[in-house]
Amino acid sequence: MPPKAVKSIRQNMKFYRYFLIGIISLNIINTRASNVPIAHRFAVGKRIVEFVPSGFDRTKTPSLILKAEPASVGKVPSGWSLVPEFTLTGKKASASLKITGEVSLYGGGEVTGPLLRNGQSIKLWNTDTGAYSVEGGKRLYQSHPWVLGVRKDGSAFGILFDTSWKSELTTASNKITLRTEGALFRIFIIDRTSPQEVLKGLAELIGTIKMPPRWALGYHQCRFSYATDKRVREIADTFRIKKIPCDVIWMDIDYMEGFRIFTFNKKNFSDPLKLNTYLHKKGFHDVYMIDPGVKVDKDYNVYQSGTSQNVWVKKANGEEYHGKVWPGDCAFPDFTSPTTRQWWAGLYKDFMAKGVDGVWNDMNEPAINDSELPEAERTGTMPYNNRHKGGGGLPAGPHLLYHNAFGRLMVEASQAGIMEANPDKRPFLLTRANLLGGQRYAATWTGDNEASWKHLKLSIPMSITLGLSGQPFNGPDIGGFLGNTDGDLWANWLGFGIFFPFTRGHACAGTNNKEPWAYGPAIEKSSRIAIERRYRLLPYIYTLFREASLSGLPVMRPVFFADPQDLSLRQEEEAFMLGKDILVIPAFAEHPSLPSGIWETFSLVDGDKTDKYQATLKIRGGSIVPLGKIVQNTNDNSFYPLSLIVCLDKDGKAIGNLYMDAGDGWSFQKGDYSLLTFEAERKGQMVRLELTGKEGQRIVDKDIKKINVTLLLNGKAYTASGTLGRNIDINL
Ligand code: NOJ
Repeated sequence: MPPKAVKSIRQNMKFYRYFLIGIISLNIINTRASNVPIAHRFAVGKRIVEFVPSGFDRTKTPSLILKAEPASVGKVPSGWSLVPEFTLTGKKASASLKITGEVSLYGGGEVTGPLLRNGQSIKLWNTDTGAYSVEGGKRLYQSHPWVLGVRKDGSAFGILFDTSWKSELTTASNKITLRTEGALFRIFIIDRTSPQEVLKGLAELIGTIKMPPRWALGYHQCRFSYATDKRVREIADTFRIKKIPCDVIWMDIDYMEGFRIFTFNKKNFSDPLKLNTYLHKKGFHDVYMIDPGVKVDKDYNVYQSGTSQNVWVKKANGEEYHGKVWPGDCAFPDFTSPTTRQWWAGLYKDFMAKGVDGVWNDMNEPAINDSELPEAERTGTMPYNNRHKGGGGLPAGPHLLYHNAFGRLMVEASQAGIMEANPDKRPFLLTRANLLGGQRYAATWTGDNEASWKHLKLSIPMSITLGLSGQPFNGPDIGGFLGNTDGDLWANWLGFGIFFPFTRGHACAGTNNKEPWAYGPAIEKSSRIAIERRYRLLPYIYTLFREASLSGLPVMRPVFFADPQDLSLRQEEEAFMLGKDILVIPAFAEHPSLPSGIWETFSLVDGDKTDKYQATLKIRGGSIVPLGKIVQNTNDNSFYPLSLIVCLDKDGKAIGNLYMDAGDGWSFQKGDYSLLTFEAERKGQMVRLELTGKEGQRIVDKDIKKINVTLLLNGKAYTASGTLGRNIDINL
């Protein structure tokens, strides 16, 4: 080799050595975590503190969680002890909060596993995870970077990580950590006297649900799919013939023409207006599915108009991104852009005009079928470096930033469209994917569970946890979605599932029929009893939803809410509370930990106490619970007669509320509602029930003509009746 060439090789080697040393040291720097100081900290509410790390840049981590930018209300309260630590590893930000003492942790949104979250870890990366089998259920359809901690003395705190970047949330007993794959983010910490007060603080930051229409609180019947309008009518008719109450029938993807959203199948759903009018006449409402994927088809008006308005998500190279869903290749609206959201909202006008009452946004993680890719390359969603253009305050950014917000931005646009189409009605929207704070736009369900005892039991901590994470309006597919369901599983599930905030039976294509009558006469009878029980409780449930819409308190609550200082209740996840006054103990519950004090068992429907599938219901001493009569749907007046169940506390007193309004529309915002307060007090051998408060301008006397009172005392029932406004005396 000529000496010149040797010299050049040596020089090159020297260069490569330095180059390699450079790369290695860069990697070390990239994997070494460096602490990031806190730049600002200030109070943004009563015992709510915002922590902003130095170098925080909202164009890299926009807030998609908060309802509005919180304003500073002063300094951090004196003696404040909860201070997070921020770190950067390369460009990836993390934050943690050290915990001292014994603290029970909850939250994290949609999670599998136990209610008590100490020692758990979940991925925040919205994923279509049928049977919850992806990574052992560690990532599901939604992301809730939020943890609630309850101390031994019952005081509580909450930590909100204000980021939508892909991340992992770990709740070790001594430390809560969020590791993200993105830029620095802000943290909000709430420290208050009880878990209930912390949840109210969370609602101050992320908002609450809109008051739903009353019909949405009835029983819902769904299947993937009721494939023809004839079958839909048959299902509806059977409910009425068999006198099983039901308010809503759902249309899954097969109502569409070739799975093109905002279309109706020409053969099987040829006249949707006629079908919906039929359903309305029979007292039903209808909900139709709309997915985010738009079939790439030059002759399809939705694809045409989206293309002409340049609404689609782009690949890193700027080309339109296509991914496969039900209709084959689809383009996806880039919901980060206000123009796209407006365009999307506009699509609902003609659709809703066909008599559509509610909408179901599914597959919006977004879920994409990439099974043609080699296994190692499959993500089940779009490439992480796809481009979102942002706008209106949101920066342009990669899919890695916006993935967890895709469903939440979609439902923001859908809700706007539904409300523009029907301004005089309250919207009902159900979504599969969401982000913390997304309860402002849509209710949710817990995705594709399976017909098994494991999933039946899991549905309770899952629903409670969503409620503890800002989403009160939720429930599972009762009976289980995947796989066949037998009568025993169905009836056991319905026996307590009917008390979930959202109650819908659903079934996957190819599985057995799962309507309440599908398992023979005995199970049909138990199903009717279960559903009738919900309808009797609707006045109470509606009152709870009103409370949730104002304060953010969940409808379904953990048992420890009855007494946050009683440590024996902290892990209870078989029994649950409905509001603060009713305890639901499912038939399968073996040794539930129940709160001490006075709790009386009560009946709602003939035969419910002896039916082996029905949950046991208990009322708290000190409360008055309003009940309606059994109706087949919420169009009927359930307040004639109104029933009140009274259970006295140890001092012989009880109090309770009933909220009433038009059941739909917005007149309640202008005072057209009535919030009644009833109080009862024992005087010797007599208990007097009085109407002690009436808020709002709605005249309710025409609805409540008669009141039946049942007083429960030491396992015995005493009854009396009367009218509104007159005292009712119950003799013991
Ligand atoms: C997935 C949803 O989770 C499920 O509920 C629905 O039935 C199917 N998609 C079909 O639309």
